[in-house]
Amino acid sequence: MATIKKDKGIDNTAKIAKQGYLYTTNQRERLGVKDGVFETRGLGGKRIIILSGKDGAELFYDNDKVERSGTLPKRVVNTLFGKGAIHTTTGKVHVDRKALFMSLMTEGNLQYLRELTRNHWLMNTQRMENMDQVNVYRESIILLTKVGTRWAGVQAPEKEIENIATDMDIMIDSFKAIGSAFKGYRASKAARRRVEDWLEDQIIQTRKGKIHPPKGTALYEFAHWKDYKGEPMDSRLCGIDLMNTFRPLIAINRFIAFGALAMHENPVAREKIKQDDDYAYMFAQEVRRFYPFVPYLPGKVKEDFQYKGYDFEKDTMLAIDIYGTMHDPDVWENPNEFYPERFKDWDGSPFDLIPQGGGDYYTNHRCAGEWMTIIIMQETMKYFASRITYDVPEQDLTVDLNSLPGYVKSGFIIENVREVVDRD
Ligand code: HEM
Repeated sequence: MATIKKDKGIDNTAKIAKQGYLYTTNQRERLGVKDGVFETRGLGGKRIIILSGKDGAELFYDNDKVERSGTLPKRVVNTLFGKGAIHTTTGKVHVDRKALFMSLMTEGNLQYLRELTRNHWLMNTQRMENMDQVNVYRESIILLTKVGTRWAGVQAPEKEIENIATDMDIMIDSFKAIGSAFKGYRASKAARRRVEDWLEDQIIQTRKGKIHPPKGTALYEFAHWKDYKGEPMDSRLCGIDLMNTFRPLIAINRFIAFGALAMHENPVAREKIKQDDDYAYMFAQEVRRFYPFVPYLPGKVKEDFQYKGYDFEKDTMLAIDIYGTMHDPDVWENPNEFYPERFKDWDGSPFDLIPQGGGDYYTNHRCAGEWMTIIIMQETMKYFASRITYDVPEQDLTVDLNSLPGYVKSGFIIENVREVVDRD
């Protein structure tokens, strides 16, 4: 039986945090790992087998071999996803509830999302024209909060939008807490409580017939949904998972800042986005592949099995290396080059482009909002390329791969925003 190569040390958590998205790639190179499997110790000295690459992702999403529930750090559940959220479910409960999320992804709902995104950016132009400087990262949070709440059918008063947006951002940022002291934990929990209170109230009001969200919206469908036992969801839990239909949408602001940076650094791409919808799609995909966002996802071995000649023992912790898989030279030619055209011939594998998880939408934990993310990115990139002009002042555009989570350091600042209108 082969022995899995090890990054020695009693607890490498600090090292993982220090090397950030490059930890796995660094160890693979240093230890001479050719098959994408090595082990480390982290999160208080626990043995963790790290899987990287397409094969690794395929194994990670095999429900017979890998258990996901109970593996997410408690504080991430408490702040980012919410107690009892779909992410924490397994088996029949998961498949049942996931079908509810996926039932929202109709052609009509996705087309509406496209229109909302397009229109909100267009209507936001005047505001940005009047600003000395626009921080694209920050501006997108508010805009996406408006798009997300409207799309989900929840009532968000205009004067509350900024507060809701800030609370959402605080929650999203909490994933940087993995394995380290997190000063913002309390603030994050308080933000979650406020938003949960608000959404639980909307569920109760809908059920009582006091508010009337349209059929097909997330609010309507969640409030009226019954699980496979014929039971409605507890109102608190229902509010929590309702939030999971649009809180993550606000996180797309990170991809938007990355996309704006990529366009700035590749002026030719900007021209192509203007002219070609297919290119805008490929550009959105490349932004999701190229830039650092989710670093790892956790799981554990369900039952003993063998993989690539190694023993995997029940209950051993596993992590799939998201960033490394999307920069694996065995899968991606020149992976560190930003090259949207690579998606022209992409076969659509569920195991290589995995910025939002992989596998099957209905039976795995793969992100329910991946199509929504691509649509929002396409429309936003088209808007930035063709509906406005702007200057990019001197600023720190670093994307530090050695720190979690990944950001454009400045947030991507633009100025002198002007609308482009073809009046011929
Ligand atoms: C799950 C990332 C946008 C809803 C996930 C997972 C990741 C992820 C990594 C977990 C995959 C796994 O555990 O295997 C992202 C990123 C986004 C994004 C990076 C954009 C920046 C969205 C949007 C929605 C959404 C717009 C709106 C519906 C969900 C839900 C789950 C999920 C409900 C849980 C699925 C399950 O447990 O079966 N996402 N997501 N996400 N995402 Fe997203």
